Amino acid sequence: MDRDQELRQKAQQEVEKYQMIVTSDPYRPTYHIAPPVGLINDPNGWIQWNGIYHLFYQWMPFGTEHGAKFWGHLSSTNLVDWKQEPIALTPSEWFDKDGCYSGSAISHDDQLHLFYTGNVKTNGVRETYQCLATSKDGIHFDKKGVQIELPNGFTAHFRDPKIWRENDKFYMVIGAQKEDNTGSVVWYESEDLQDWEYKGILADGFGYMWECPDFFSLDGQDVLLFSPQGLRAEGINYRNVYQSGYVIGNWKDHFTFGEFTELDRGFEFYAPQTTLDEKGRRLLFGWMGVPDQKEEYHPTKKHHWIHQLTLPRELEWKDGEICQKPVEELVELRDELIVHELGPIAKTIPRASEILLDEMTSEKGYITIFDYATIDFDKKNRTIKLTRPAFDTGEKEERVGIVENDINDIRIFLDHSSLEIFINGGELVFTSRMFANIHHATLEVQAQGQLSLWSLKQKF
Ligand code: FRU
Repeated sequence: MDRDQELRQKAQQEVEKYQMIVTSDPYRPTYHIAPPVGLINDPNGWIQWNGIYHLFYQWMPFGTEHGAKFWGHLSSTNLVDWKQEPIALTPSEWFDKDGCYSGSAISHDDQLHLFYTGNVKTNGVRETYQCLATSKDGIHFDKKGVQIELPNGFTAHFRDPKIWRENDKFYMVIGAQKEDNTGSVVWYESEDLQDWEYKGILADGFGYMWECPDFFSLDGQDVLLFSPQGLRAEGINYRNVYQSGYVIGNWKDHFTFGEFTELDRGFEFYAPQTTLDEKGRRLLFGWMGVPDQKEEYHPTKKHHWIHQLTLPRELEWKDGEICQKPVEELVELRDELIVHELGPIAKTIPRASEILLDEMTSEKGYITIFDYATIDFDKKNRTIKLTRPAFDTGEKEERVGIVENDINDIRIFLDHSSLEIFINGGELVFTSRMFANIHHATLEVQAQGQLSLWSLKQKF
């Protein structure tokens, strides 16, 4: 048996061994993507190919710590029902033996191409290779080996290629640490997806490393999305260990970029990736986690799994900012309309629910979920505040966001141990895990407005 087969078999055994214990966890999500066992982090290779959505993910099957990552693989026709596909990549070769790290997918010559980072660590010394794997059926991938080696001027923290095509040329951005230990994004160009020309630094200027870059145009705006490390908290901003956000600029004009804006105001959000689907929508998935953020305190580790992904979101350019709304397909998740009345209310609700508060008339108010998380809003100050107990100390911690205009609606997706909160149709989003006591089931809404609540179907 070769190394690849051996790793696949071992991962499969791990899935089978822990399946019962994983699925019996009361914190296990029922409509969000979570690892079959072990650890999930970044969404990778996100693409719609021949009508089918393919989503790959960073996966560590052999424990709930980070390690030599695999690429797990799911497919979907409707963004609501997902099928677990065979493992796409295992860390089986000399150039990726310590992890098939993050990357992206592109279709070319009727084949699906995955570009990813081969992570190699020998006696603590890191090497990095940008690698390719191709597939004719979108399920079985052939590794084509190293395509790009580390250029001069950078440390081995050089990873996460994101590819796109524009006017018959291919482009790639990579997250890179410069030799002076500051973060940047570099770019490459290719005519044929084979020979890549290094073009230089696209953006830099703060932090010590920028991970998972993505580049796209949204309603005529050029957007560079990335996850910088090493920013210091400033007021309500940059409160998590690492951030994730974007700068707007002009690609043709050698990317003069503006201010960095965080994409999400919640506690757990990182390494998002987008794709353009066949309907022309810019769709995003993010990791509902942050590296080095109290992972040891996640209670799900006892059940042999950790972390999950966000729901798919559609990006729009609105009033000078990126707006993220849950994709419209998600209404298919709705099972039963359980509540449809005017607030305030206090009710017992299912742990997989969608809550919508709109036509809000009170100036101030709050929503408390399971005696654990509270969303306070204040129309006068245009602020929304999310409070929850810290995983380690249990002390209250908070994240705050400010909207441009009035606060009109709050839409919440609740899934056993997660919260995604969309303010004003996605003008602000708070993404967070939530480990509430499993016997607490009360939703309390202290606000005047129209409240609707649906139980949501089980998909996993
Ligand atoms: C971001 C990241 C990437 C890397 C991957 C490894 O969370 O650190 O930079 O490719 O995770 O799993």
